[in-house]
Amino acid sequence: MFQEKCAGCHTIGGGDRVGPDMEGVTALRDRDWLVRFIVEPDRVIAEGDPIAAALLEQFGMPMPNLGLTEAQADAIVVYLEAQAGDAPAPPPEPPVSVTAPTGDPDIGRDLFSGASRLANGGAACIACHDIAGVGALGGGALGPDLTQTHAKFGADGTAAMLANLSFPTMIPIFGTRPLTPEEQAHLAALFQQTAEVGPPAQPVGQLALAAAAGAALLFGVMHLLWRRRLTAVRRPLVKG
Ligand code: HEC
Ligand code: HEC
Repeated sequence: MFQEKCAGCHTIGGGDRVGPDMEGVTALRDRDWLVRFIVEPDRVIAEGDPIAAALLEQFGMPMPNLGLTEAQADAIVVYLEAQAGDAPAPPPEPPVSVTAPTGDPDIGRDLFSGASRLANGGAACIACHDIAGVGALGGGALGPDLTQTHAKFGADGTAAMLANLSFPTMIPIFGTRPLTPEEQAHLAALFQQTAEVGPPAQPVGQLALAAAAGAALLFGVMHLLWRRRLTAVRRPLVKG
């Protein structure tokens, strides 16, 4: 369950990822607090719990409510406790599989922009995310710019996140419509490419040009119409 639901954002002894490293967390926190936090982090945060508030500030995003029961959360805490025991350390966990098929950034770009459909019917990423080099006017602003995702989370972090898009806003869409392994690989390849290219150029210059051209065109049209109307009034007057 940890590998499936948590490893996208947490490691055990592998350092902070999207959320904090879970190594030693069972010694650091009260057991009941941990179970409750895993079951309903949104509630704990909303209640103004000081630990949760500090973590939220440190990591800049809230841990999503993953819909676990108390029994499931308890089982995960038992697992975390076992990892922390001073029994001979278990072999380090393999990072979430990165052995997925190698992706093609161009196919990834089509999936991102919606030019190709996602096999399981998820929404195109561009609806909510911007990324360098996709779409003349950029993507949606609801989610963060993904240009630097690969630079920020590394290949493993990116692969893990794509395998399990468990972000609060995305769960309703992708919870039941996961990306296929091929789609994950293509998008990962795209992220790797954009991280090397840099942040998207703001389309402000293009927009300003388009606005100026539009204004000039309107001015021309008005000028023509207006002139005709003036002569239509003036000629009969002069004749008269
Ligand atoms: C989408 C990313 C994400 C997923 C998935 C996720 N977490 Fe978190 N988690 C976070 C973030 C971010 C924080 C720190 C901010 C906060 O507390 O809200 C956090 C904090 C925590 C903490 C508190 C750590 C401390 O130092 O007290 C625990 C415990 C935790 N997560 C356990 C889990 C478990 C168990 C799962 C799987 C059932 C899980 N998380 C899934 C992002 C995630
Ligand atoms: C309905 C809007 C929506 C769609 C569609 C969407 N996302 Fe997201 N995504 C978000 C939001 C909002 C966040 C920020 C976390 C949150 O609030 O849930 C996010 C966060 C992320 C993150 C974490 C980025 C970070 O820096 O923390 C990744 C990676 C991501 N999305 C990838 C994707 C991919 C890949 C697709 C397309 C397959 C996609 N998203 C489609 C809304 C969306």
